[in-house]
Amino acid sequence: MATIRSRIRGTGRALPEQILTNFDLEKIVDTSDEWITTRTGIKERHISEADEYLSPFCAQASKQALEAAGIEAKDLDLIIIATVTPDQPIPATACFVQDLIGAGRAACFDMQAGCSGFIYGLSIADNFLRTGTARHALIIGGELLSKYVDWKDRATCVIFADGVGAVVLSAEEGERGILSSALHADGSMSDFITCPGGGSKIPVSHEMIDNNLHTIKMRGNETFKIAVRSLEAVCREAIERAGMTPHDVRWFVPHQANVRIISAVAGRLGWPEETIYLNIARIGNTSSASIPIALDELVRAGKIKEKDILLFAAFGAGLTWGSCLVRW
Ligand code: COA
Repeated sequence: MATIRSRIRGTGRALPEQILTNFDLEKIVDTSDEWITTRTGIKERHISEADEYLSPFCAQASKQALEAAGIEAKDLDLIIIATVTPDQPIPATACFVQDLIGAGRAACFDMQAGCSGFIYGLSIADNFLRTGTARHALIIGGELLSKYVDWKDRATCVIFADGVGAVVLSAEEGERGILSSALHADGSMSDFITCPGGGSKIPVSHEMIDNNLHTIKMRGNETFKIAVRSLEAVCREAIERAGMTPHDVRWFVPHQANVRIISAVAGRLGWPEETIYLNIARIGNTSSASIPIALDELVRAGKIKEKDILLFAAFGAGLTWGSCLVRW
């Protein structure tokens, strides 16, 4: 029987127009362009305006991905948005996006796995497609993290940014598409990256906001060390599952969290600079959006050739981590 695989047929991205540079940040918190550049690799990032929210950006990226795929919104069976920054707690932002793009047949839900959300979403959709439950799926990684950042906390506000990336995935016979994925989590480190308030544990209240529990907190240095080890292992896992070696990978498209993490992982796997796709200097850390944004840049720049092997890998709040190997 022919193998059914989930192939990425189209990609898209949407970023707020406003750009915040490291020099702008020097005026907001006690930091410097030099510190941010050397510690993270970030030079500037896109930040949404006060009246902007997630779903219109998701719709914009989705329309681009659908057009590139040559698929109409009404043919979508499934819309998944990986996000920690939805439009509102109820309902799912995926339902707003369904309405904005006219995808009336699609089942819709949001899910979150921190910065690993896009990889988790891709893997969920892959399972729907390979079992025949859906033929065409839209997977969006979208975040407006600037809305959840503490603009007085220099350890986080210089890192996180806003943006959306989307892909259209279709079930097809053949060798192209998702070859393997690997997903992991360790909830015993849930306090490494957290936004403690606003849920059922600490509901919204004046006191919660006075105590600043509605913003993101991160134990950056501890997260850094675990990220490098876990990413290396999960990259190897997806590669081995597909019966390949690190040498087979043409493009490593990692979550853009920190250039030092990415370089360390690439070094351990023996990948030269030209294998790694980096846009963190311009885009910052957009959590679940960073991989589909990077992928869309690569695709639209014409850098990926048919049958190239791509590896996506991410690490984030949860803690969660995962990877996905694709034959283009
Ligand atoms: N500007 C200037 N100084 C800063 C600063 C900033 N924006 N942010 C922190 N510092 C200071 C700290 O206060 C600390 O000062 P001290 O030595 O006087 O106490 C010093 O810089 C070092 O802080 P540290 O947190 O140890 O820095 P770091 O080298 O670990 O870099 C991160 C911080 C956040 C960039 C890095 O830890 C990181 O990227 N972690 C992983 C994040 C991640 O992968 N998250 C999961 C996916 S989102």
